[in-house]
Amino acid sequence: MPDDFRDPNQWWVGQVLYQVYPRSYMDSDGDGVGDLRGVIERLEHLEWLGVRAVWLSPITVSPNADFGYDVGDYYDIDPSLGTLADLDALVAAADQRGMGVIMDLVPNHTSIEHPWFEASRSSRDNPKRDWYVWADPAADGGPPNNWVSLFGGSAWTLDEPTGQYYLHNFLDMQPDLNWWNEAVRDQFDRILRYWFDAGVSGFRIDVAHMVIKDRELRDNPLATDTDSFMEQFRGQRQEFNSNRPEVHEIHRRWREVAESYDPPKVLIGETFVERLEDLFPFFGDGGDELHLDFNIPFAHAPFDAATLADMIGRTEVAMPALGTPVWTGSNHDISRFPTRWAGGDPARARCALMMLLTLRGTTVLYQGDEIGMVDTDVPREELLDPVGIRFHPHAGRDAVRTPMQWENTPGGGFTAAEATPWLRFGDLDCNVTDQRDDPDSFLTLTRDLIALRHSTPDLATGAWSALAGPEGVLAYRRGDTTRVYLNLGATEARVEDGAGTIAVGTNRARDDETVFGSLTLAPAEGVVLTTG
Ligand code: NOJ
Repeated sequence: MPDDFRDPNQWWVGQVLYQVYPRSYMDSDGDGVGDLRGVIERLEHLEWLGVRAVWLSPITVSPNADFGYDVGDYYDIDPSLGTLADLDALVAAADQRGMGVIMDLVPNHTSIEHPWFEASRSSRDNPKRDWYVWADPAADGGPPNNWVSLFGGSAWTLDEPTGQYYLHNFLDMQPDLNWWNEAVRDQFDRILRYWFDAGVSGFRIDVAHMVIKDRELRDNPLATDTDSFMEQFRGQRQEFNSNRPEVHEIHRRWREVAESYDPPKVLIGETFVERLEDLFPFFGDGGDELHLDFNIPFAHAPFDAATLADMIGRTEVAMPALGTPVWTGSNHDISRFPTRWAGGDPARARCALMMLLTLRGTTVLYQGDEIGMVDTDVPREELLDPVGIRFHPHAGRDAVRTPMQWENTPGGGFTAAEATPWLRFGDLDCNVTDQRDDPDSFLTLTRDLIALRHSTPDLATGAWSALAGPEGVLAYRRGDTTRVYLNLGATEARVEDGAGTIAVGTNRARDDETVFGSLTLAPAEGVVLTTG
């Protein structure tokens, strides 16, 4: 392993990464579906924003039962999104602008149409049989154990011709791979290297905490009324099909592959844990597992100062010394933060943005966050997401996957005027073009906060510590020179230790204001204050 293995200041530390949902970012050929050439066309926007790398939700071949998260070929690009040559062009064009390209790795499961699964299900003695999790029926002929799929129903489906059940923790079209099998591990080492050698800068790893399951396939314990909402909803705690101790050895193996490159490739885990304390082990003992790991419990926290201060403080305290916290408010699975945290109130959304861009670590914005896009109401008959189709109106993800809003024109600057986008548009009044030159816009605030982060070392990498603030105010210090005050309460707040200069305020009229000792903040107002 190279000597700089433990260097905490890698290229992603303190930076802003940006998630592109490729089907909805930019459509270069007018078929209504975004594509890789489209992302190339929009790189100028990303460079202008100041992002360091773009994470693309899955672009590999997929029958799209779960829009890319059901992979049919790990080594090629889905034709609806482009070609290997397009990816090469994207990597080169991004690199010229100083940005990396991060792909999505889906190691927990494949598509049911993947040739590995077709071989695996063809007979019990096929050499690929053991690449997936197969088990005999229970004594009564039912599923081998009580595990339920995260997408509803039993996690097992009977394959009648061979008389065994296969495991799927998501759709029955997404059979789980068997990570006890060494050949599966070798295959994924190859996949990592294949894309790293193609110039990809890292991977976001889908359900990284779930890949390996209990070898004995023991029943999950039933949920009790002290368990979380989701556990009670599912009726069980995911003790044996998720977050098993053996997963760490797999992450360490991937880390070795990532670290064998110079500069190292980044590994970002999606470990969808419900309890904050379950997050930290994924950074490894001494920082030898995932480099970054989405803080999903934080994203799901209520948007009030006391809860957020507690979550951020606990994250800072528990984070292994060489780990980097990740802050994100939206993604392709969860409600967008201007809706979820801010309830559609633009002033609160500006505070949320300021928080995300001033915490220590790496911030990951989701496409549209920069203009304050809210969730879009997609009518039931137009739903495409299998989760939405099954659980409407209680769950579903189409609302956050609608096309990027570039301009208020037919086609929205996303696709040709006459084309029908694969998913309807949200409110095109909220768009990049109209916001770009408006000094008061959400987009300008995003860009200015990112620029401030780049020009203020304390904001990029300075230590985080909590500050005492009046009730309702989330207050913290970054390094020696920078303090952040966000009034998330419903009434005006007066901060008493506020001397300094407002570098950026959510109310832009206050930028550059000198503050002498005390600072008054309107409800839903925030400032970044610098001294020196
Ligand atoms: C998490 C992904 O983010 C989500 O979109 C997907 O449906 C599941 N994993 C299954 O791959």
